[in-house]
Amino acid sequence: MNRYTCLSLAASLLLSACVVDLAVLKNQRVDFVRQVKPILEGSCLECHQHQYVFAGLNLETKELAMKGGRRGPVIVPGSPHQSLLYKVLLLGHDSPVAMPPTPERLDRDYEQIIHDWIQQGAKWPDGVRLTAPQNRKNPKA
Ligand code: HEC
Repeated sequence: MNRYTCLSLAASLLLSACVVDLAVLKNQRVDFVRQVKPILEGSCLECHQHQYVFAGLNLETKELAMKGGRRGPVIVPGSPHQSLLYKVLLLGHDSPVAMPPTPERLDRDYEQIIHDWIQQGAKWPDGVRLTAPQNRKNPKA
């Protein structure tokens, strides 16, 4: 290894260390029930529950969500960038698979919450069930 490669290697290591640090600082613990559930219920459940299982994906329960859609798992705990559930949020809306399939993407803060949740292991407490807005007995609950 010559001096230059050595230096640039050191520089890129330093840089990646900083990036990781920033990510850790930004990554506060995500609370599924308080933060993730309302996003999924509000933006996704309409089409991904037992009445409309679009793309074979039902997000009502942990078991069904982890099973995934027609192409298999959409959540890879620890790896948001391998998780279709996160990746579809980043697609431009010229893609037919961009989610939600509305002209607007999800709020950036919400994208970050989904990202951090998956990165932190996609914890979903047992027995917590998501409800589609149209199936709520009391829509304000
Ligand atoms: C208005 C209905 C609707 C809403 C709301 C919706 N989806 Fe979808 N979803 C679809 C349809 C339709 C497809 C199939 C798209 C295609 O491939 O053409 C799909 C496909 C997907 C897929 C791909 C599954 C697979 O295995 O191929 C994922 C992941 C997904 N949606 C996640 C989400 C998430 C996350 C949200 C909320 C942010 C969401 N969807 C909101 C209708 C919807």
